[in-house]
Amino acid sequence: MRKRVFSGVQPSGILTLGNYLGAIKRFVEIQDEFEAFYCVVDYHAITVPQPPESLRSQIARTAAFMLGAGLDPEKMTLFVQSDVPAHTQLGWIMECTATFGELSRMTQFKDKSQGKESVSGGLFTYPALMAADILLYDADAVPVGEDQKQHVELCRDLAERFNSRFGSVLKVPEPLIAETGARIMSLQDPHKKMSKSDPNPSGYISLADSKDDIAKKIRRAVTDSGREVAYDPEEKPALANLITIFSHCSGRSIDEVVAAYEGKGYAEFKKDLAEVVVEALTPVQARHDAIVADGSYVEVLREGARRAHEVSSTVLRRVKEAMGLSLFIDPEGVRI
Ligand code: TYM
Repeated sequence: MRKRVFSGVQPSGILTLGNYLGAIKRFVEIQDEFEAFYCVVDYHAITVPQPPESLRSQIARTAAFMLGAGLDPEKMTLFVQSDVPAHTQLGWIMECTATFGELSRMTQFKDKSQGKESVSGGLFTYPALMAADILLYDADAVPVGEDQKQHVELCRDLAERFNSRFGSVLKVPEPLIAETGARIMSLQDPHKKMSKSDPNPSGYISLADSKDDIAKKIRRAVTDSGREVAYDPEEKPALANLITIFSHCSGRSIDEVVAAYEGKGYAEFKKDLAEVVVEALTPVQARHDAIVADGSYVEVLREGARRAHEVSSTVLRRVKEAMGLSLFIDPEGVRI
């Protein structure tokens, strides 16, 4: 039997090249090897305020970008989190399994709450919901970018704690993180990850950016001192990030990219990089636009939610039964 993967993407803005290279492109690459469940995690997005109209359209566009990138409804399951009730139900149980100390140590919470006068309780408990997302599908592995590693580690700890209290109920998943491309950095600051919430749009390439925008942002991207196109993440992190982007968008290895630009300057490298990024994103954008226009994502998400509900409700029933929670509504599950 194929191993299972689960992963989620927030519909909190237009996806970036970081989301694409660190996660979605890999989701596509592994959809044959694994039985894959991919989720547009709208409950995670509302940990910060979202205007209803824009949330609705972001959910559709996120799904359309994922399909446009090559996810195939014949091969994998794609669904929206809030269509499947077990997520918030197991989410609560995981909140009661996690400790305040553990949640307080999550670096993403520290980053996102820093300097804010008021943050929602959901922003704090979010990793417990993420753990529930994964555990509901008995996932063997979780393909994510580097920034989500700590959350997957917490998910493992929670599953192990739950199992030690209630017996062997939950599958303990492994993070699946690529060696390169798992941390695409901002084009303006190579010490910050590329993020759709960056207030400076020059820092990120969005999947909806035009050819001209992409070329302009790459032209303006910071580079390190020197003239040689050399891959040195310690000494030349900005250039190393651009070389990584080049490599992933072109399918050429880092060594091949470096060799191709020996003796050439940054300007030529950047010009070609813009072309390579545009070539990688243009077909994704075209398919996204077609999928939004014809509405074909609706049936995919509907069928995906049915399948996700089938799997997740079985795992939830197992969890409730192990804990002694009520199953009176479930004809097969009544135990008292
Ligand atoms: P999110 O929506 O921030 O990002 C979606 C995926 O994109 C990856 N990613 C990156 N990879 C490389 N470089 C970057 N600059 C970059 N930015 C984002 C993320 O690592 C992620 O894999 N908490 C998750 C969503 C989530 C989830 C889950 C993931 C909810 N439940 C269960 C896995 C399993 C998040 O906020 O991802």
